[in-house]
Amino acid sequence: MTLELGSTTARSLRGSVRVPGDKSISHRALLFGAIAEGETRIEGLLPAEDPLSTAACLRAMGADVGPIVAGEPVLVRGVGLDGLTEPESILDCGNSGTTMRLLLGLLAGRSGRHFVLTGDDSLRRRPMARVAIPLAAMGATIAGRAGGNYAPLAIQGRRLHGDTVTTPVASAQVKSALLLAALTADGPTTVIEPARSRDHSERMLRAFGADLEVGGEGNRSVIVRPGAVLRGQHVVVPGDISSAAFWLVAGAITPGADLTVENVGLNPTRTGILEVLEQMGAAIEILNPRQMAGEPVGDLRVSHGPLRAFAIEGDLIPRLVDEIPVLAVAACVAEGVSTIRGAEELRVKETDRLAVMARQLGAMGARLEEHPDGLTISGGVALRGAEVDSETDHRVAMSLAVAAQIASGTSRLRRSAAAAVSYPGFWDDLARLQS
Ligand code: S3P
Repeated sequence: MTLELGSTTARSLRGSVRVPGDKSISHRALLFGAIAEGETRIEGLLPAEDPLSTAACLRAMGADVGPIVAGEPVLVRGVGLDGLTEPESILDCGNSGTTMRLLLGLLAGRSGRHFVLTGDDSLRRRPMARVAIPLAAMGATIAGRAGGNYAPLAIQGRRLHGDTVTTPVASAQVKSALLLAALTADGPTTVIEPARSRDHSERMLRAFGADLEVGGEGNRSVIVRPGAVLRGQHVVVPGDISSAAFWLVAGAITPGADLTVENVGLNPTRTGILEVLEQMGAAIEILNPRQMAGEPVGDLRVSHGPLRAFAIEGDLIPRLVDEIPVLAVAACVAEGVSTIRGAEELRVKETDRLAVMARQLGAMGARLEEHPDGLTISGGVALRGAEVDSETDHRVAMSLAVAAQIASGTSRLRRSAAAAVSYPGFWDDLARLQS
């Protein structure tokens, strides 16, 4: 689908928007609900393609996951820690790296059962050895293309050994896969990551009853002791800060804008975007801070104003990893030269987001330099409307829509439908906020 965006008569953005449920928390609520005893009731689950992939895989293994309808609670009747059955066919994870990686960890320990995981063209190109290798150290048997790095991946489930495992990258998907594998291992497991990644699994597994402890230097290690029974919970999913990020940047860079984004999850392992926008001098206020089912939440108000360049690197990267494409758009508008370093992980997301953003923003007249691990972006450049392409990546699609908002003239965005992977209502919300 090609969408026409922006116009020569610039329109501002005003009003309130409620972003859909957090994608990371939605996947976890479905997965943990499926392996708990009893019923899990999920409110605010993200009704988008990625969580639907997780739900379909779980149903194919005997979990009773009720219909996923926007605005209605989702009921999951769990099968217990070792209750998933061998599926009759291949499990399709679609575009979702979280589905594939977390399932690898969960299924590797399902003794005597065989599973095959695949995904779309993008997912079959994403590295899985980062999960398969540490799982193999716990005794898992996983085979796939290119020595087990790429799907389709075959898992022969077996009893795993508890171990101390150091993850090769700061990735919540890798960490979570190992935590799931650890739940039924033959002894305690310690997972140590190089920098702290989002901690939704730790919070939610504990709430479900897992015996799990976070500690060590910089809270980078998690110990799981097997044996605890998970019990169905009532989960309330806050809005996704990674979806809110598009409105935060759009509001900060669009002349005359004043937006309130309601009900946004503010887990400190995810709020790097707010720190960078603050560093840029953006006018952002947190309203009604509150707690929702173990996660901090608030409403965010943003209005247009002058912005300074930013520099991001190191341990901050995992705390805003999905927001870098839209931050690249903000950097085009800011005064000065912005730098993003230590972000080589972006090359193995749904697309190579460093290359794709450099290519697509470049087509709009941005001045960017691409590095192996980041971008250097010169600000104060007037973007112009252009023919651009999401290259099938949801976050690229929405970032380019934000760029088109402040570009002169009209842009045409190819493959705009990619947004439905994490934010199906994005185009409707954009039209409403513009009017
Ligand atoms: C996710 C973790 C991040 C993020 C992805 C969702 C998760 O990936 O980019 O969108 O739900 O655990 P990595 O953990 O691989 O960095």
